[in-house]
Amino acid sequence: MCGIVGYVGEKQAADFLVDGLTKLEYRGYDSAGIAVFDGEKIDIEKTVGRLSALKEKIKEHTPQGVIGIGHTRWATHGRPSDVNAHPHTDCSGKFAIVHNGIIENFMSLKEELIEKGHKFVSETDTEVVAHLIEDVYEGDFVKAVNAVLDRIEGSYSLVFMCQDYPDTLICTKKDNPLVIGLGEGENFIASDIPAIIAYTRRTYIMNDGEIAVVKKDSIWVTDRKGNPITKKVFEVNWNAEAAEKGGYEHFMLKEIFEQPKAVRDTISPRLKKDNTAVVLDELKWTKEYVEAFNKVYIIACGTAYHAGLVGKYYIEKLARIPVEIDIASEFRYRDPIIDEHTLTIVISQSGETSDTLAALKESKRLGAKTLAVTNVVGSSIAREADQVMYTWAGPEIAVASTKAYTTQLVTMFMLAMYMSGLKGTIAPERAHDLLTQLRHLPDQVGRTLEDVEPIKTFAKNYAYNNDVFYIGRSLDYYVALEGALKLKEISYIHAEAYAAGELKHGTLALIESGVPVIALATQKSVYEKTLSNIKEVKARDAVIIGIAAADDTELEKYVDHVIKVPTTDELLIPLLTVVPLQLLAYYAAITRGCDVDKPRNLAKSVTVE
Ligand code: AGP
Repeated sequence: MCGIVGYVGEKQAADFLVDGLTKLEYRGYDSAGIAVFDGEKIDIEKTVGRLSALKEKIKEHTPQGVIGIGHTRWATHGRPSDVNAHPHTDCSGKFAIVHNGIIENFMSLKEELIEKGHKFVSETDTEVVAHLIEDVYEGDFVKAVNAVLDRIEGSYSLVFMCQDYPDTLICTKKDNPLVIGLGEGENFIASDIPAIIAYTRRTYIMNDGEIAVVKKDSIWVTDRKGNPITKKVFEVNWNAEAAEKGGYEHFMLKEIFEQPKAVRDTISPRLKKDNTAVVLDELKWTKEYVEAFNKVYIIACGTAYHAGLVGKYYIEKLARIPVEIDIASEFRYRDPIIDEHTLTIVISQSGETSDTLAALKESKRLGAKTLAVTNVVGSSIAREADQVMYTWAGPEIAVASTKAYTTQLVTMFMLAMYMSGLKGTIAPERAHDLLTQLRHLPDQVGRTLEDVEPIKTFAKNYAYNNDVFYIGRSLDYYVALEGALKLKEISYIHAEAYAAGELKHGTLALIESGVPVIALATQKSVYEKTLSNIKEVKARDAVIIGIAAADDTELEKYVDHVIKVPTTDELLIPLLTVVPLQLLAYYAAITRGCDVDKPRNLAKSVTVE
């Protein structure tokens, strides 16, 4: 998730480009750049680091001109660096482009273009687009853009600039946001409204497949076939801060609602079109490589640790390799049994958590092969690990992790399916069935977010309880742990999660009349057992909120309230059941007037031991 901007008008483009990018820095902040056409050539200034670094750089030399594009980056392909920063150009420098999204088939296109003699300078997927337009261009800018769109696959919002068309920018989008701001004698392009709200409140919201030819005094929008489209003006009535949150009150709520896209972006480049296999180009493992492991070690902290628990279940269940899991701060001081037949997987959203980084270094010292699952390209953990699988959740601003957790779950699931595919530990029909259900998951996460009113009501009703308990068995228990952490860290309510079968060994003593218990019951293999534990707490007059699959008709008989999520395989349902728990925590915190995005005593990335 990057931020892109474009300007064509009568004023110096660099002013709007830099200001617009400043407003989009929440979308990505590891490198930035602008390209401005000075009437003779396209002048590019770009640098690694926050936007302040670019501002510093162009103090000496600010590109001059009244047309330009800009970008602030959230790396997905190619670590943060000057050369990987956008804008990218072709061999001749005639074209400059900025891109937000992922070109999924970039590798095959790049090989083809290199065959044809194109010289690539960066590791990015995006640079392929600059060379592709150079390759197809025969003088007609719009035609060339269309030819490029015929070849690229994935998600994108793109802005193109061409020396032969000094008064024109062309922009288009698929699966990623893009807006055009309508000015007087100038027009603005941006990934999101915060960039343009200070200049105009009249906008066109671009739809998938639309192409806009933008000049200072005209905007011509067509579909991919060239049919003109009359765009409705969307009048923006948000203030700038609300705009950064996309109209949501908090980044946490915005990030909860970004989960369908984050999960889709993390799955789709790695799932074969026919749902028969997971393809992990970033690993390129062989059957022999995987079979050489006699143990997998998962290490992480907080929410990432909870994702690790689900990952352990997936790898043992699907790839049949024994998995140990540890909290990083414990792991590094307990002399773990590790050798060259151990695969250590560290999970970290930020990629900077010091306990996890130290645990990774310790594993390497002991001879393990190491794999990092992280959300930040170029982070310390990404650079330290032998190999990396990225969760493509985009920047996660709120301290309470939500979309990073669900993308960590699908990443661990795909890793387990990949290992089982290499080892042949599950039947092809079962694999196809699971991967088909995986493909439907992003939409199902979306459906889970459709009706939040009942959850809001529960949250309001129980927001002033001192204690809240979460119970579940197997995968439900691991999700219950995450639900309890979310409630604790943002609403400051004392919440505990327990393996449902463990209650009668002590904790049941805490259950008294009126105490809220959130009970997850989605795992068929232990369903009856979970029901009997629910009856145990009900017998002590607890108030029970049940979480169940849509096709469940049993649970509602034993609980006070039930929240249903779409039915899917019990291995995948944790991605759905966690959503109402995230919302429950959010609305409870709201009810108690807590600072949801910046809860007390916590930091987004814990870089101290
Ligand atoms: C989760 O909401 C918290 N922010 C915290 O527990 C977090 O998961 C933990 O600090 C690990 O962070 P990481 O994933 O960036 O390593």
